[in-house]
Amino acid sequence: MATRSTYFLALSALLVPRCVQVALAATADEWRGRSIYQVLTDRFALPEGADTDACKVEDQTWCGGTWNSIRENLDYIQDAGFTALWISPVNQNYDGERSAYGDAYHGYWIKDISQLNDRFGSADDLKALSNELHKRNMYLMVDVVVNNVMATQTDPDFSQYYFKDKSQYHPYCGIEWGNTTSEQDCWLGDEKVPLPDLDTRNQDVIDGYNTWIKSFVQEYGIDGLRIDAAKHVNIDFWSGFCASAGVFCIGEVFGGDDVDALAQYQGPLDSVLNYNMYTAVTAAFKIPGDLNVSAIQDTLEQSKQKFKDITVLGNFLENQDLPRWHNQSVDLQSLYNAMTYNFMSSGIPIVYYGQEQYFAGVHDPYNREPLWQSNYEKTAAYNLTATLNMFRNHLVGTTDWAKQDMEILTTSEYGIGFSKGDVITVLTNIGSPAQNGTQIAVKSPYDSSYAMTDVLTCRQWVTSSEGMLDVEYTGGGKPVILVPEKVLAGSGMCGQDSSLASGSKTDSNDGLVVGGSRLLATLLSAVVIVFAWPW
Ligand SMILES: *[C@@H]1O[C@H](CO)[C@@H](O)[C@H](O)[C@H]1NC(C)=O
Ligand SMILES: *[C@@H]1O[C@H](CO)[C@@H](O)[C@H](O)[C@H]1NC(C)=O
Ligand SMILES: *[C@@H]1O[C@H](CO)[C@@H](O)[C@H](O)[C@H]1NC(C)=O
Ligand SMILES: *[C@@H]1O[C@H](CO)[C@@H](O)[C@H](O)[C@H]1NC(C)=O
Ligand SMILES: *[C@@H]1O[C@H](CO)[C@@H](O)[C@H](O)[C@H]1NC(C)=O
Repeated sequence: MATRSTYFLALSALLVPRCVQVALAATADEWRGRSIYQVLTDRFALPEGADTDACKVEDQTWCGGTWNSIRENLDYIQDAGFTALWISPVNQNYDGERSAYGDAYHGYWIKDISQLNDRFGSADDLKALSNELHKRNMYLMVDVVVNNVMATQTDPDFSQYYFKDKSQYHPYCGIEWGNTTSEQDCWLGDEKVPLPDLDTRNQDVIDGYNTWIKSFVQEYGIDGLRIDAAKHVNIDFWSGFCASAGVFCIGEVFGGDDVDALAQYQGPLDSVLNYNMYTAVTAAFKIPGDLNVSAIQDTLEQSKQKFKDITVLGNFLENQDLPRWHNQSVDLQSLYNAMTYNFMSSGIPIVYYGQEQYFAGVHDPYNREPLWQSNYEKTAAYNLTATLNMFRNHLVGTTDWAKQDMEILTTSEYGIGFSKGDVITVLTNIGSPAQNGTQIAVKSPYDSSYAMTDVLTCRQWVTSSEGMLDVEYTGGGKPVILVPEKVLAGSGMCGQDSSLASGSKTDSNDGLVVGGSRLLATLLSAVVIVFAWPW
């Protein structure tokens, strides 16, 4: 092993150009098995010694989080089982007089993409975060804003921006919603904080962006991009941009239940945040709410036809623009069932920081709470997140589960049963109170008396006649995840050994890292870590 490592180290040192960070991996295929934790850099963690009571969301100003303070607190994210981190935009923002909507603490008010935002740290700090993530076999996703910059008047001084010529921007107009041309070419924001809209058909802008993103991704070892306001750019811009980036691109195309409108972006972009399924999951599980489980079935059927690949779409319940789940629906089992849907269905689960702490902010700026005020408690939601990640990482590491088909087995007014690979998930919207007599009956593909385990409670289950699984709610509406016992071998769950701890399968995927080039990737990142300082 020593000689092999030495060989790889020597080889890697030759292959890795100086000062360029190494991304662990990049493609949609490699992201499919990942699980993403989303943070606003300003709100995730404070530097040691800072005043933990000072941050007030309504002040709409910086609270003091940095790339270093994220790096120092990565255990909280990794212990919850996440294998990727999405951070808010890192590029230089507007830093002038306080605007009508406060300061640019969120990072989306871009001024100059060629500079980093020094509010959050230095280039070395961002590289150190990237390196530390890679050392932990985690991916770094960075949020980028391409559609627009930020201004405080509709006739700004364009020379302050990266693209300095007025002709590189669309002329000012307010968006007329529902008119696609207007949504793409007019300016987001309003007259108090207008967001000057880049002309992404202008060849200088196209070339400038493509050159920038390529070097930006390489410089900081970025493994994937989340693209802000992708809906507000002409769709044909994206394939060239993402090809230049050379990494997974997931776009924000804000919307509701229109599957055609969203699906057209997959192709130009690798993936989109799945607003369609968010809308359906909300309709199904939010209490009080429509309690309309057919919305999931309908959305899934349409999505299978219209998207190129539903297994790489981003599943979420919250983000910096949406009301927290817990604001809309205080019943805890409502949250737990919806969370379980996002981890066990097709797609990449994304958790917005604070969901695991039951944050309940309704909208901007209240949904951008400082995480430190939770004391990073190991709440039941945190523990459920960890269990869901641990199980999913195990499936991803030992099988091709992430690629396998998802099939709905049953729906009723109370809930849904679906399979993906060997896993059968049964979810309900009845909420926490026990309901004797309510039952969801799911026809499994197994024979009668087939032994299964509920991953969330470790309780043993057996199928009844003809392979039926009858889920009852005498203890309240809890989510259920059933697998054949053998699937848990090596998972470290429900009394099974962990293949990692036992060291018996050192060459197999362990769920933290996906893909065949694990050894090389690990060594490459090790090389960067070892040699980063002297350069
Ligand atoms: C849509 O918006 C564009 C850009 O503002 C405008 O030129 C066009 O007239 C609008 N179309 C309709 C049908 O209103
Ligand atoms: C439930 O959702 C389906 C599919 O989205 C929709 O067609 C139906 O009208 C909804 N039903 C109710 C009662 O809202
Ligand atoms: C949701 O947000 C609103 C507005 O901030 C607040 O009044 C309400 O108490 C919140 N609901 C919950 C359940 O936290
Ligand atoms: C979460 O799990 C930890 C152990 O990992 C335990 O100490 C803690 O009590 C659990 N939290 C809850 C709310 O059950
Ligand atoms: C519901 O069932 C549980 C468990 O079987 C039992 O303990 C409880 O008394 C029942 N409640 C009602 C209202 O029937």
